[in-house]
Amino acid sequence: MFSEDQAFALLKRRIRIDRGIDCEQYKENYLKRRIAVRLRVTEATDYLAYLRVLKNDPEEYARLLNELTTNVTQFFRDKDVYLKIRDEVIPMLFRAKKTIGSRTIRVWSAGCATGEEPYSMAMLIDYRLDAEEGSWNIRVLGSDIDVESIRAAKEGEYSDVDMLEGMDIREYFETEDTPRGRVYRVRERVKRRVRFENLNLLGDNERRRFDLILCRNVLIYFSRDVQGRIIEGMASEILHEGYLVLGKAETLGQKAGRLFSPAFPRERIYRHVVARGRRGAATGGDLTR
Ligand SMILES: C[S@@+](CC[C@H](N)C(=O)[O-])C[C@H]1O[C@@H](n2cnc3c(N)ncnc32)[C@H](O)[C@@H]1O
Repeated sequence: MFSEDQAFALLKRRIRIDRGIDCEQYKENYLKRRIAVRLRVTEATDYLAYLRVLKNDPEEYARLLNELTTNVTQFFRDKDVYLKIRDEVIPMLFRAKKTIGSRTIRVWSAGCATGEEPYSMAMLIDYRLDAEEGSWNIRVLGSDIDVESIRAAKEGEYSDVDMLEGMDIREYFETEDTPRGRVYRVRERVKRRVRFENLNLLGDNERRRFDLILCRNVLIYFSRDVQGRIIEGMASEILHEGYLVLGKAETLGQKAGRLFSPAFPRERIYRHVVARGRRGAATGGDLTR
C-alpha cells in the first residue's frame, strides 16, 4: 500500500509526464488545497482514486488546470523572470542586432490574456532604449484565443498594476481617479508599439519571425504531444539565437528541448539553437534585419 505522501508524489509525477507541469513550482499547501477541490468534486476518496479519474477522463486535466492556474495574468508576473529579461536578455538582443546592422526587435506574447504581458515587454524595451543611441523599430505582438481578453488588451486600461524595481510607474502609465476607482492607462509611447490579434495556437497560423517569444502559463492547457508541436512551431518562428520564455511551472519536452539551450533555466528562458548547416532552412534563419 502507498502512504498518502507516496500517492501524492505519484500524482505529481503523472501530471508532469502527461502535461509537463512541474508541480514543485507550486507551494505544497496551495497544490494540496487546489487538488482537494477536484477530489471532492470527482468524489475521489484519495490521491490514488484521483489518479484513476485522470486516467479515465482526460477532460479532468482541463478542470484541474483551471483550478491550479485560474485564468489570471498581471504586469511583470514573476519579477525574477522580467528582471533577467530586462537586464540580460534585452541588452544581448540589442548587441546581436547591432552586429548585423539591424534596428528592429520583434516580440510575441502568445496567450497574452488581457495584455499585461506584451505591455510589460514593451515597457522593458522602452526602459532599455534610454541607453541606446539612434532610433529602433520595436514591435510587440500580443495574441490570445479569447476575444473578450483581446478587446480588453487593446483598451490598455487597468485597475491594478505593478512595476519592476528601478522603473517609475509614471513613465509608463497615465492615472485617472474615477468614481470606480483609479484607472491606469498605458502611455501612448508604449501602446503604439504593441499590436493585438485573436489567434488560436492550435490553428494553422501564418509563420512569422520573432527575436523573442513568451509562451507563459499557456502550454499547461495542452497534452505533452500538443505542447511539443506548439514549441516546435515556435522554434521555426524564433530566429537563430532568439529567445523563448515559458511559465515558471512549464518545461520543454525532450524533443523540443533539442531546439533550445537553457539560457537562464531557473527563469525558464531558452535560446534557440540551430544545428550546423541548417540555418535559414527549416528554421527561422539568423536574427532579422
Ligand atoms: C493563464 S493565461 C496566461 C497569460 C499570460 N501569458 C501570463 O503568463 O500571465 C492563459 C491564456 O491562454 C489562452 N489560451 C488558452 N488556449 C489557447 C489557445 N489554444 N490559443 C491561444 N491562446 C490560448 C487563454 O485564453 C488565456 O488567456
